[in-house]
Amino acid sequence: MFHKKLDDFPTDFLWGASSAAYQIEGATGEDGKGKSIWDVYSHEKGNTYKGTSGDIAVDHYHKYKEDIALMKKMGLKAYRFSVSWSRIIPDGEGKVNAKGLQFYHSLIDELINAKIEPVLTMYHWDLPLALQEKYDGWESTETVEAFKNYAKLLFREFGTKVKYWVTINEQNVFTSMGYRWGTHPPKKHSIKLMMLANHHINVANAEAIKLFHQMVPDGMIGPSFGYGPTYAKTSDPEDVLASINANDFNNNWWLDVYCTGKYPFFCKKQFEKLGIMPEITPKEQKILEDPEAHPDFLGINYYHGGTFQQNRIQKVTESSKQEKFDKTDPYLMQPEEGRADEPEIAMFNSVENSYVNKTQWGWEKDPTGLRITLRQVYEKYQLPIMITENGLGAHDEIENGQIDDDYRISYLADHIIAMQEAITDGVDILGYCAWSFTDLLSWLNGYSKRYGFVYVDQNNQENGSLKRIPKRSFYWYKKVIRSNGKDLEDKE
Ligand code: BG6
Repeated sequence: MFHKKLDDFPTDFLWGASSAAYQIEGATGEDGKGKSIWDVYSHEKGNTYKGTSGDIAVDHYHKYKEDIALMKKMGLKAYRFSVSWSRIIPDGEGKVNAKGLQFYHSLIDELINAKIEPVLTMYHWDLPLALQEKYDGWESTETVEAFKNYAKLLFREFGTKVKYWVTINEQNVFTSMGYRWGTHPPKKHSIKLMMLANHHINVANAEAIKLFHQMVPDGMIGPSFGYGPTYAKTSDPEDVLASINANDFNNNWWLDVYCTGKYPFFCKKQFEKLGIMPEITPKEQKILEDPEAHPDFLGINYYHGGTFQQNRIQKVTESSKQEKFDKTDPYLMQPEEGRADEPEIAMFNSVENSYVNKTQWGWEKDPTGLRITLRQVYEKYQLPIMITENGLGAHDEIENGQIDDDYRISYLADHIIAMQEAITDGVDILGYCAWSFTDLLSWLNGYSKRYGFVYVDQNNQENGSLKRIPKRSFYWYKKVIRSNGKDLEDKE
């Protein structure tokens, strides 16, 4: 679509910013909080960058009032945060920790008093350790039951105060990292277990949404999904097919289940053939397909897309002869052990996109990909969308007590324009929550990779002063919010 003039942002558009409990709160052993899988994982040698952890993080647990005062100063309309499950139910099930509940009540009240809409994420990766130890976490249905009870508690406590709810953050990312690449807890390498855990999370998500619709009828709930559009490297039909496979496997595999209760047909058949498709009980299928268990909106986290070509195992080229494909190659599906008689099934091969620039961390900068994302997701599922994450990770430097992050401003401005174009195309977008409000712990990059509008003096030795300093992007975003997205210029 081409537009001579872009539509205005809706008057009630939620200009926001995001965070996650483990990445900001600290106070991991305080006031009765139980341990999460990340409390242990980050302390095992070699798992995180320079051994960094969220033990202190940016100490938001103690400094939340100061942080919300900064949000108010900025004029933020919405703040997305996550609840640490083990802070309010230390073992993940059973006894409730009143002090943990009190913390989130205080946080939410403080936001409401500052006229900031709270957006509550129920699960941002920090599974209570006890559930991992007792039941192998998401590999078992007991964890689904525990999540349902946790959800019930959250809805009862906060249902009258919070309208927007996110069930699960980036299920595609944490199941892949936890079970395929083994770079997040529980640090396993099994696509079969990934599929099993993933299926249980789908059921947990559906159960929670159904319950929400009974307990919080005026609210809106949905998962936040890490979406990336899938481009074909060339117009070679084989590459196009590879990009379709990638879309099915990277996006539809999750979004279809959330919104329709059905796993995408082609992938499912492929996974059954590989012996990695979990069994779905009739009871599970029923809850997945129940319209009351489907989301009211979709949270979309957007950083970049991906480019794909026919898998080079299928189509060997001179250069690919030099490449080594092994069992952990994420784009090569191989049969699980015991089914070695099955041939390798190559789905797609990920390649660089020569049309886009990259961030300091090698992530593609692709604002048009955001517009494509919004269009594809809206066209397919016809649900309102909230952008629940989008941002630029960089090495920010302080000079004369200031942080001049003009590169972040230009990144965000480009994405905001792409979002406005999508709105003008006709996509229903509720809000935009940039990642992140303050600097915070990057799961695998420690305190080196920063995303915030507010600089926090924290470092990889975890002994910073924790002082907050608004960056140049803070004042810019303030202007963006005040003008309801009309003024994106980077000048005072
Ligand atoms: C998203 C997560 O995947 O990306 C966030 O939801 C995360 O928790 C963000 O911090 C940025 O990732 P990274 O690895 O650059 O810190």
